[in-house]
Amino acid sequence: MPNITYILADGSKKVIDVPSGTSVMQAAVNNGIEGIVAECGGSAMCATCHVYVAPEWADKLPPINAVEEEMLESVACERTDNSRLSCQLCASPEFEGLVVTLPRTQI
Ligand code: FES
Repeated sequence: MPNITYILADGSKKVIDVPSGTSVMQAAVNNGIEGIVAECGGSAMCATCHVYVAPEWADKLPPINAVEEEMLESVACERTDNSRLSCQLCASPEFEGLVVTLPRTQI
């Protein structure tokens, strides 16, 4: 069960043990982390689950597919090289120690 750190927009941190197979988005919602809206419930259709992964993680995560790529064009805050949709990041043991930062807003 990987341990994932969420850095909220106010700078505070929450660390969660995320069951493998659960998305980074769903774990945030299940644990009441504010700042992940997830309007579409994880279908890669809303872009309100945007996160910035820590730079050292950018190359360790599964690549961005075409659908995610398209939705990342419509995130509310600036898209960067580290932007991902957290609903498309399905936790596995390799995610141990992942750090994601939430944007100022999702809408
Ligand atoms: S929850 Fe809608 S795109 Fe991720």
